[in-house]
Order: sequence, then structure tokens, then C-alpha cells
Amino acid sequence: ASTFQISAAVLTVSDTAAKDKNADGSGPTIQQILSDHNIVVPESNYAIVPDDVDAIQAAVKRWLERTESQVDWIITTGGTGFGVRDVTPEAIEPLLERQAPGLVHLLISSSLKHTPRAVLARPVVGTIGKTLITTLPGSVKAVKECLDALFGGGIIQHAIDLNR
Ligand code: MTE
Repeated sequence: ASTFQISAAVLTVSDTAAKDKNADGSGPTIQQILSDHNIVVPESNYAIVPDDVDAIQAAVKRWLERTESQVDWIITTGGTGFGVRDVTPEAIEPLLERQAPGLVHLLISSSLKHTPRAVLARPVVGTIGKTLITTLPGSVKAVKECLDALFGGGIIQHAIDLNR
């Protein structure tokens, strides 16, 4: 477990959920799993945007620029695949200051234990200042599996601790 209280933000990237927030399954699932790990996601740290580079970057930058309460970990869900509308990696990667290919490897290799289609995810992970960003796939099943892998052995807490 982390020595510090971790503050997280959850960004659902989905054209469908942007039109109807009740259609968002993975965002609330992430928040539930985080709360099981004593990680707080305040109301203002949850947003839904369509599959659009500018909208994704604007949401992330809003959290990065917040000075009063720092966000340690931003988790996006959706838009990482090969669909023509999937642009989450293209939106996040240019913002990263340091890439974390090891965590990308963890996401892919652990997901491959669940489905061969894991090779269709194009996750990017890295840091921007004191904030870590991970990009998870869009399904409820996938976010559960990916968060299991990230929390395994306290890896994600350790990464966040080292980055602040
Ligand atoms: N990873 C895990 N752990 N479990 C899954 O079911 N689904 C895959 C992949 N990664 C999956 C997974 C599939 S089918 C796709 S298309 C990609 O994630 C990308 O998903 P996204 O476009 O919703 O981001």
C-alpha cells in the first residue's frame, strides 16, 4: 500500500457515453475498484469526453493545471483500439514527458492471459510532471483485468510514490 493518500482522476473516452452518461460502464467500475484500494476520486475528477483528440487533451490538461489539489494518477478508459475513432493514444502520447514502456508491457502481457485480442490495445503510459497517466481499454471486463495487473504487488502505488 502507498504511504500517501493517492488522488486519482478517471476519464471515459467514448462517443456513446459522451451522449449518455448512463452508458458509461467502465468509468464507474474504475472508481469502485479505486475506492476498494482507498484511492479517492472526487466528483470533479470524473469526466466523459467523445473520441476526439482535442477533447481528450483538454480534459487531461484541466486536471494537470489544477494547483489546489494535485492529481497523482489519471486513468483513461476507451479509445485505445484499432477502430477508426480510437484516438486516445494519439491524444495522450504527445503530452507525456516520460514514457513508461514497462507498464505498457505489463498491461499487454497480463491482458494476453485473458484474451488474444489484447494485442489490439495500443496503451500508452507515462508521466507529466508529478502525474502518472495510464490508458486502459473501454470494456468493464478489460478495466477490471488491467487494474488487477497494475495493483498486483503494489506496482502502481510504488510508481506513483516514486513520481512525486
Ligand atoms: N485487455 C483485457 N485485459 N481484456 C480485454 O477484454 N479487450 C481487447 C483489448 N484489451 C481486452 C483487453 C480488445 S477486444 C480491444 S479492441 C482493445 O483492448 C482496445 O479496446 P478499446 O478500443 O475499447 O480501448
